[in-house]
Amino acid sequence: MEFNATVAPAKKIGAEAPHIPGDKSISHRAVIFAAMAEGESHVTNLAPGEDVASSMRCVAALGAMVEHDNTSVRITGGAWRSPQGVLDCGNSGTTMRLLMGALAGREVSATLDGDDSLRRRPMRRVAEPLRELGAEIETSEGTAPVHVGANHPLHGGHIQLRVASAQLASSLTLAATGATGRTTISGAGSARDHTTLMLPHFGVEVRREGDDIVIDGPQHFRAADFHVPGDPSAAAFWLAAAAIVPNSTITVHHINLNPTRLGFVAALERMGADITTTVDSEEPEPMGRIELRARPLKAIAIEAADVPAILDELPLLGIVAAYAAGTTTVRGARELRVKESDRIAVLVRGLRELGGSVTEVDDGFDVTGGAPLHGATVESGGDHRLAMAFAIAALGASSPVTIEDAGCVAISHPSFFTDLEKLCQA
Ligand code: S3P
Repeated sequence: MEFNATVAPAKKIGAEAPHIPGDKSISHRAVIFAAMAEGESHVTNLAPGEDVASSMRCVAALGAMVEHDNTSVRITGGAWRSPQGVLDCGNSGTTMRLLMGALAGREVSATLDGDDSLRRRPMRRVAEPLRELGAEIETSEGTAPVHVGANHPLHGGHIQLRVASAQLASSLTLAATGATGRTTISGAGSARDHTTLMLPHFGVEVRREGDDIVIDGPQHFRAADFHVPGDPSAAAFWLAAAAIVPNSTITVHHINLNPTRLGFVAALERMGADITTTVDSEEPEPMGRIELRARPLKAIAIEAADVPAILDELPLLGIVAAYAAGTTTVRGARELRVKESDRIAVLVRGLRELGGSVTEVDDGFDVTGGAPLHGATVESGGDHRLAMAFAIAALGASSPVTIEDAGCVAISHPSFFTDLEKLCQA
């Protein structure tokens, strides 16, 4: 749904954050693993947005029985069949890339496609290493539509990833579960490790050996019940709101505290916010609460090594940096240019409209903060994370901000604007 949203500056932020949606990365995996498993799995606190709905639609088209009700889903998986039409992955890179790997080792053929944004994103980085394991995969000049052929038995091998991407490592890991022999995947670095943490829960043995992921295939998936923790990438917006509106305190509950996802929390702490993190449970991933008290913020430097754990929050960091004294620098983040939008370009354009002082570089940006931003109309680039980041920018601005094409928040957080309103009225 296309609409523009106008967000007014906030005087105060509520102390209790609204319910945080289930983690999107983990929800995709739970849906796909459940569909690969024989028997019935039950997933609760599933991420509510269109992206995870794309994963559910695709696995249903592949033959899984999917009974979805609000934020819980029962999936009966096992035997996959070649779908009737194309698998529509919508806006979701995770759906497309993980399914490419999951399909590669199965005796079905399918064509995966998506919206204009997904059709611009690189798929050769997934197709090429999958071919090294014996998969038959054709991209359309490196992008979607992507065709995966049937009846190509996969074999193990040593795969060196060219990009330290969690989607890529996960895709190869799923393919390796259908391959005969040992597959070793190197180069995932410190990218989010949900796949290796969740697979044992679905009966699949996988090991981390240093930086390598090792799987002895073939392996069978077992149905399981799974509760999805809150999404730290969604909580980040409320934490940022409280960090930039003076005198605020906020607590977010039931959040996934996997360290590969907490780079933004660490960055806010380095910038001077007062943060307490409490782990309430440990399995299969740490989960708990984060409490933040606003303090005057100062600039920090984000280097390449920091990027994986803060990847999806870097545009939001750019907004927070506009409210911090000094110049915040982000480098080693060229991947942002091939996300749902060119996130460096969209951020820089929007921040400039709002009166921010920002410099664009090939692999990042510099933002000099201090003076409040002013109201203006900004473009989201059709990118959910940018639309939400500009909404947070408005909270500390001197006048309201209008975000064009704001309906894209439904990709990950459909209730974002109503939740934001509640947060600002409290
Ligand atoms: C994701 C991995 C990251 C992230 C994306 C979700 C995942 O992408 O940006 O939003 O669920 O594995 P890359 O693997 O391309 O770095």
